[in-house]
Amino acid sequence: MKLLILYFSGTGNTDYVAHYLARQWANLPVEIELRSVEQQPAEAVTDFDVLAAGFPVYACDSPPFVQDYLDRMAPGEGRGAFVFCTKGAWAGSAVWRNLHRLAERGYVPLGGGSVTMPGTDGLALIPKNSRMARMALEKDYDHLEDADRLAEQMANVLSGLVAGQPVQAFRQRLPRRLNPNGGLFDRVWAFLYESVGNYARTRFWADERCTGCGLCARLCPANNIELREGHPHFADDCFLCMRCIHACPQEAIQIGKITVNKFRWHGPRGDFKPLRLRPRPEESSLHVNN
Ligand SMILES: Cc1cc2nc3c(=O)[nH]c(=O)nc-3n(C[C@H](O)[C@H](O)[C@H](O)COP(=O)(O)O)c2cc1C
Ligand code: SF4
Ligand code: SF4
Repeated sequence: MKLLILYFSGTGNTDYVAHYLARQWANLPVEIELRSVEQQPAEAVTDFDVLAAGFPVYACDSPPFVQDYLDRMAPGEGRGAFVFCTKGAWAGSAVWRNLHRLAERGYVPLGGGSVTMPGTDGLALIPKNSRMARMALEKDYDHLEDADRLAEQMANVLSGLVAGQPVQAFRQRLPRRLNPNGGLFDRVWAFLYESVGNYARTRFWADERCTGCGLCARLCPANNIELREGHPHFADDCFLCMRCIHACPQEAIQIGKITVNKFRWHGPRGDFKPLRLRPRPEESSLHVNN
């Protein structure tokens, strides 16, 4: 049986948790493959028996980029699917919403959960040596209790499937209140994010430290950055993954003035390297081998 861990990670947290979960399942008699949604078009993702879809929570849901990807994937045809996500504080019904999305595509929802990690929505706004920055750097990433619990729950289901139990025996009943708008708290939270996000995405710029290296343009998952005369220009398709801000080697990308000389996050191990869908050959050094 092949389990595909398919995920998106803007700034490294979900990438880390995806690998963490895979390590917890290393002793299961299951073939495990990790793949970023940036590595392969959705339509081509077919070669698996069970799916574990992972993403960072954005406004109590998955990023629009991920929603679009899940909608374009081949129908589940009765295959099982888990959903896991990373969050800064509050995931709302992000897991259920995405299980629901997958169920509508013909997958059998098998459950999932969320893992608390540093909130990358705020990290670029805090001073470099603030208490919050230290907490993010010093958290014990070798022992993530919520990831351990999630891994165990999912391992129980995987073991049952390997033992020959039918996937329908593990079908999760999705809550009735899972309408497209979610709960009231989710809606208020999402509205606040949307308002702040709409303002923030129009305030991106690169300061005088920019060397014109072009890394931001190559890493943006929305292809929202173009280098013109050696300087980045930001279009209107940003979904605020915060990757360019944290990945710029000069810390030159800013949202207005509020991110200038503030903290930058390079993932739990300080070495996150995003995977792009169609890298040019000379970019192969940006790749992480699973
Ligand atoms: C645009 C945006 C929206 C976010 N919305 C939420 C949210 O609603 N709830 C929450 O707990 N964390 C939220 N976060 C924090 C991320 O979910 C969290 O930091 C996640 O671990 C980032 O994962 P990544 O490094 O894989 O991109 C948000 C982050 C961003 C950039
Ligand atoms: S990654 Fe930073 S230094 Fe390189 S082009 Fe983009 S803004 Fe400039
Ligand atoms: S412009 Fe930056 S924050 Fe926006 S989608 Fe691209 S990489 Fe993410």
